[in-house]
Amino acid sequence: MSSMLNLMKAGMGVLLRPQKAFNKPVHLQIEPTTVCNLKCAFCVREKNVFRPKSIDIVRFQEVFEQVTPSRVTFAGDGEPTLAPDIWKMVSYASERGAKTIITSNWTIGPRIAQKALDAGLSALRVSIDAATASTYVAMRKADYHNTIIEGIRELQRLKKERGAARPDIGFEYVMGRDNIHEMEAVLDLAVDLGLCRVNFRPLNLVGIEEREDELLEGMTREQYSAALDSANAHAKRHGMATNLDEVIGLLPFYGERYTEGFNPEQRTPDCIYPWVQVYVSVDGMVTPCCALQMDERASLGNMFEDGGFDAVWNGKAYRKMRRDIVKRAGEYKSCITCEGRGLGKVASLALKTPGFLKKPDSKQGS
Ligand SMILES: C[S@@+](CC[C@H](N)C(=O)[O-])C[C@H]1O[C@@H](n2cnc3c(N)ncnc32)[C@H](O)[C@@H]1O
Ligand code: SF4
Ligand code: SF4
Repeated sequence: MSSMLNLMKAGMGVLLRPQKAFNKPVHLQIEPTTVCNLKCAFCVREKNVFRPKSIDIVRFQEVFEQVTPSRVTFAGDGEPTLAPDIWKMVSYASERGAKTIITSNWTIGPRIAQKALDAGLSALRVSIDAATASTYVAMRKADYHNTIIEGIRELQRLKKERGAARPDIGFEYVMGRDNIHEMEAVLDLAVDLGLCRVNFRPLNLVGIEEREDELLEGMTREQYSAALDSANAHAKRHGMATNLDEVIGLLPFYGERYTEGFNPEQRTPDCIYPWVQVYVSVDGMVTPCCALQMDERASLGNMFEDGGFDAVWNGKAYRKMRRDIVKRAGEYKSCITCEGRGLGKVASLALKTPGFLKKPDSKQGS
């Protein structure tokens, strides 16, 4: 199916929400490896990965040809830049016209900046979580802050030297008690480094519930809310794109999530991912997004074992999940603090209202 035709069909899918999708996903998120060089305080990887492994270029080509996405994100329970074939995979997808994005800890950035540029990477999202070296250590348990910044500067230097606009670079920032005070400072750092956006992520505790005290104890909801508001005002003053409006909109769910437990009234998101995007793990497991992988109810099939991608994409489990979402009957804990939950409304509005997504002064990136 041509990508334009698939995009149009995906738009119809978002509006009509059929149980059996008549389009392929537009966006593929793939886990290139479960190997990692860090043990971040907030990451579920240690609970999830027992025998680290990577997919190779042949396996990636199989997945790409079956899913035929317009956009590929390389990220999962590992560090994508440590997958031996990562740059071959990025080149393969880029040469076929797909937008390519890597979410990375960028701890080996100075060594691979040139490879990222040569492979035609469209966007790099660097998980930094801190504006200072000491806060980085508190969050990520290793001393790489200066190296990461050096790697970003190197990539910016190479882009300038070649007159290249891509990859555009942004920060990812998981919010916990130990780094909530550095949100404004990280925005300043992003401006200083010439980045295009900063995404702030509410901490997902599904699968690591026992770490709640270690990560959040002592932080009040008022402090959290004030920090978000103040960072949002700061970002707007400096013209830095963020997702803070959406995160602030999630605050009621966030409080619910951590203080009062799971509320069935709020259990089902208005999420469009089951119609437009897919996450494929290193083992071939398929879910609408990576956040759902710790939720047993959201395991929808294995494309390496259960007859290939098409069989899973419109298999029984996927059709049930789509039905659950339409009927507001799903019970997926990760959905509660996810920005995806509001995407349905935004997408429907965007499709029905010409010019809805047009922001004349907005910066690039997503
Ligand atoms: C699982 S990581 C994998 C990619 C890479 N290793 C990295 O750290 O960027 C993908 C993204 O999820 C974020 N993340 C990890 N654990 C999280 C959690 N418990 N809640 C929210 N985001 C989390 C990471 O900071 C990163 O931005
Ligand atoms: S967040 Fe990324 S870098 Fe940190 S342990 Fe998890 S996979 Fe590794
Ligand atoms: S709401 Fe979020 S966690 Fe739930 S399926 Fe959608 S993207 Fe995934």
